[in-house]
Amino acid sequence: MITFSRSALYYDALVAAGGKDYARESVLIGDLIDRYKRSPGRALLDVGCGTGRHLEHLRQRFECEGLDIDRGMLSVAAERCPNAPFHLADMIAFNLGKRFDAIVCLFGSIAYTPNVQRFEQTIAGFARHLVPGGVAIVEPWLRPDEWEEGRVSARFADLPDVKIARMHVGRRDENVAILNFHFMVAMRDGVRTFEETHRLMLLSDEHYQTAFLRAGFELRHGRSVLDGRDLYVGVLPHG
Ligand SMILES: C[S@@+](CC[C@H](N)C(=O)[O-])C[C@H]1O[C@@H](n2cnc3c(N)ncnc32)[C@H](O)[C@@H]1O
Repeated sequence: MITFSRSALYYDALVAAGGKDYARESVLIGDLIDRYKRSPGRALLDVGCGTGRHLEHLRQRFECEGLDIDRGMLSVAAERCPNAPFHLADMIAFNLGKRFDAIVCLFGSIAYTPNVQRFEQTIAGFARHLVPGGVAIVEPWLRPDEWEEGRVSARFADLPDVKIARMHVGRRDENVAILNFHFMVAMRDGVRTFEETHRLMLLSDEHYQTAFLRAGFELRHGRSVLDGRDLYVGVLPHG
């Protein structure tokens, strides 16, 4: 079963409850692309685009496409951005048969790669899908030293006709964080509970730098969009 297949419908409400500002982030991301991009085009691919919350804003400045492994997330994204092409694909091994001027992979989506080899393969795939002078922007998830074993977490969304609770206690198996989310969702027809396990890689700065350099990128320093965390901005040199 794919990670978000049971929770996709509740994703936006839970993220909104955390106060994430997609509009503001999208301005920062767009500005970074325009600052570093050396190719003339405007084609942008959002990998691990989820429900299309960044694309909704980025499409005002770029010709946007999205890619995600989860059908439920993509169907919310397609409703939100009706004219954008969406690709149901695994970021580890995708081949869209075209190249973009910018690829973004945001809000820690990259950490869903299962091991360091697949992570590097994914970054190399981004390079293959960029034109010379194109830019890849990757927003990392937690680094190994930021992980707090046994941390108790909860998120609640309180909408008029839907109440959602999501809780987990963080566990770690070497460099993989295991988030066993317990959901409780109340709607007019009753309350349902389910669990969903997410496995995310705890990747170090060295992992990111190595992957970008091996894929042929020149690294630029980005600005943080996720409270205090730097972005990785790679530019693909001209031939
Ligand atoms: C934390 S969500 C972020 C979604 C979106 N970028 C955002 O900012 O709201 C992670 C996303 O990565 C997607 N994902 C996980 N593994 C993937 C894979 N192997 N290939 C493509 N997408 C994947 C999930 O389906 C989910 O939509």
